[in-house]
Amino acid sequence: MPELAYLNGKILPIKKAMVPIEDRGYQFGDAVYEFIASYKGRMFCVEEHLDRLERSMRALDFPPVSKNSVRDALTHLFDKAMIERAGIYIQISRGVASRTHSFPQNTGVQTVMTVTKLSETHAYVNTGMAVITLKDFRWGRCDLKTVQLLPNVLAKQKALDKGVNDAIFVSDKGVVREATSSNVFFISSDKIVTHPLTHNILPGITRIMILDICRKKKIPVEERFYRVEDLYGADEVFLTGTTTEVTLVDTVDGRPVGEGLVGGHTIELYKALRERATRHADEKNE
Ligand code: PDD
Repeated sequence: MPELAYLNGKILPIKKAMVPIEDRGYQFGDAVYEFIASYKGRMFCVEEHLDRLERSMRALDFPPVSKNSVRDALTHLFDKAMIERAGIYIQISRGVASRTHSFPQNTGVQTVMTVTKLSETHAYVNTGMAVITLKDFRWGRCDLKTVQLLPNVLAKQKALDKGVNDAIFVSDKGVVREATSSNVFFISSDKIVTHPLTHNILPGITRIMILDICRKKKIPVEERFYRVEDLYGADEVFLTGTTTEVTLVDTVDGRPVGEGLVGGHTIELYKALRERATRHADEKNE
């Protein structure tokens, strides 16, 4: 099935979709985005992603964009592509205008979307992932999903260059924030701990799902600040995200964490998340 793009109302093959060089997303990183996954032909958590997109735009004083129009365009594009397991990328920039730092006047936003194939499961289902910790050198509004991802890109590459899979950002004072494209959780004495919602982390949609699953399963959760040493001494560490789903971390800075993949809450939560996503699809497909 075709991998498609949407560009300001038009649908076309991805390779044919071009944005003007004066797009503010391209020149200033003045754009927000979302990434949605589909399971069994149905997009998962669409409303949560659209709400976060709207929140990001509002916080950055974007001109108003109707959520219904984004949803309609998104649904139309996704239906056309007919890719059951897809990653749907939406990016909205503050428009195309002559290059000046200040906001352009009377310029509409520019919306692009793509639908591409996504592998059936995340890459570390049978292994677990190795991570390093790095100093968080991002800006002060990591709760907004903007395309300014250079620190995340550099951190991810540094991890790969060091022979591990990802990096976790840690504040100057040693507080664990999040990974380059996922939220971080750890488990200690059957209690699950994750960073609270502040300007320093993205409010992950998968994070919301996992917290809800924990509540339903009566697994105790604490949303609080914690330190790298807590990860070193944890029973389990895992990352959550739309593509990451729930991924076990088996080493942090070269130190093995817990017992690896055997048993544990991480596998249970991974299965519960998949079950929720496929149940949602089955109900829609009935
Ligand atoms: N990344 N933290 C960061 C910095 C992220 O970039 C992401 C998502 C998350 C998890 O959010 P969610 O559960 O809503 O996917 C946390 C997406 C997948 C990306 O950049 O492609």
